[in-house]
Amino acid sequence: MSALTGILATEVRKIEETAAMSREIQKQRLTHHLMPPTGWLNDPNGLCYFKGRYHVFFQYAPFDAEGGLKFWGHYSSEDLVSWRYEGVPLYPDSNYDCHGVYSGSAIVEDEKLHLFFTGNIKMDGDYDYINNGRQASTLHVESEDGVHFSAKEVAVDYRNYPEDYTQHVRDPKVWKDGADYFMALGGRKKNDQGAVLIYKSEDLKNWDYDKEITTEEPFGYMWECPDLFEIDGEQALSISPQGLEREEYRFQNIYQSGYFLLKEDKINVKEFQEWDMGFDFYAPQTFEDAKGRRILIGWMGLPDVEEEYTNPTAKDEGWQHCLTIPREITLHDGRLYQYPVEEMEALRGRCCEIDETQKNIEVWKPFELDLKLDSRKCRISVGDDLMFEADGREACLRLSEKAGAGRKQRKAVIPSGRLKELRMLVDTTAVEIYLNHGEVVSSTRYYPGKTTQVVKLEADKIQGHIYELKEMT
Ligand code: FRU
Repeated sequence: MSALTGILATEVRKIEETAAMSREIQKQRLTHHLMPPTGWLNDPNGLCYFKGRYHVFFQYAPFDAEGGLKFWGHYSSEDLVSWRYEGVPLYPDSNYDCHGVYSGSAIVEDEKLHLFFTGNIKMDGDYDYINNGRQASTLHVESEDGVHFSAKEVAVDYRNYPEDYTQHVRDPKVWKDGADYFMALGGRKKNDQGAVLIYKSEDLKNWDYDKEITTEEPFGYMWECPDLFEIDGEQALSISPQGLEREEYRFQNIYQSGYFLLKEDKINVKEFQEWDMGFDFYAPQTFEDAKGRRILIGWMGLPDVEEEYTNPTAKDEGWQHCLTIPREITLHDGRLYQYPVEEMEALRGRCCEIDETQKNIEVWKPFELDLKLDSRKCRISVGDDLMFEADGREACLRLSEKAGAGRKQRKAVIPSGRLKELRMLVDTTAVEIYLNHGEVVSSTRYYPGKTTQVVKLEADKIQGHIYELKEMT
């Protein structure tokens, strides 16, 4: 360990220990979403299942709840509901990453866990931000136990990108196909077009540029956090594009996250499907677990929203953001559905059955609502804070001024044209809503006031359950 790593490790430990002492009094902390021990969290990184445990790494800025220098944090779990914090595996401590250990992915090969990630260097002086204001390389480490990692090695040097790319190239996602390994990197081209670069390797060490995947028509200036995976024989490309115009029913947030189903590397811009229609979702990543499930976890937050919204947890409690709950992905009629992994049901505690006669229900906090209904119109209110409405093909989530910290509403189209099932998992300051078993999903942070937790249900032929949700351990 270098002297710098030692200093950073001591400082992180100190600040995490101090934060742990005030946990009891922090009312906004989450009970079934992974959040940072202290400070700031953004993208999920290095998701994998390795030697009997799930590993979730994340972008972590422990010293500043508003962001800043990025490290990786690390949680692991046997069952996706009981988590252990494993500390910081990657520090910004080398000549290639001293301004941030940025996002990346994991691959398990020959009993070893390999991590690939972006080392970020910001240039001092008279550089232009887009073209040469930084140096972004892909770095590689490996581990026998999933917790201790080897020294960093350069996998793709920042000098090795095609001529027409800026230094905004990052977030490697690595996978194996046949005998070869592939890496997708998100990029910004000099003509301000977003794209994905594909690199190829035979040994996970030496990487050669293979090809580019992009659209013919412009589709945003930068594609962050790419992910390429196969699902039921289809190739899906997930990206987090920046620079799309906001519309009434689509692209309502500052940046987006969604996917294309690829046909021979051709991309039809019109076929981009957003992963999530809520206020807070970005930079998701997927992985395949030992049961063969494709699982997605996203960041329940967004970058660069400071002018529109301030997340109260930063000032009130010194932490900010969380990850979504793990969602299993399945393919139905050309769309990817997302649904909470079945393990989440282990958190269900006391239960109350719902039928036609119950319209106002006092609920536990946090709680889960699991409903079947058959009516054109439906309205569900949680206290005075949150209201969800569906009317035929249109769904809308509204937050009160206070609960939304200024944010008001998000709309969505229900492609199948009717709401038949709704599942809502309501955490202390976060809510995830799944329509029709994951056809449409909406994730949002919200900050309820003191109104009693009464859920009001307005719909025909409604039945189902409300559960108390126990805290993840
Ligand atoms: C996405 C992102 C990535 C980058 C990371 C830095 O939110 O901007 O592109 O690697 O965050 O924290």
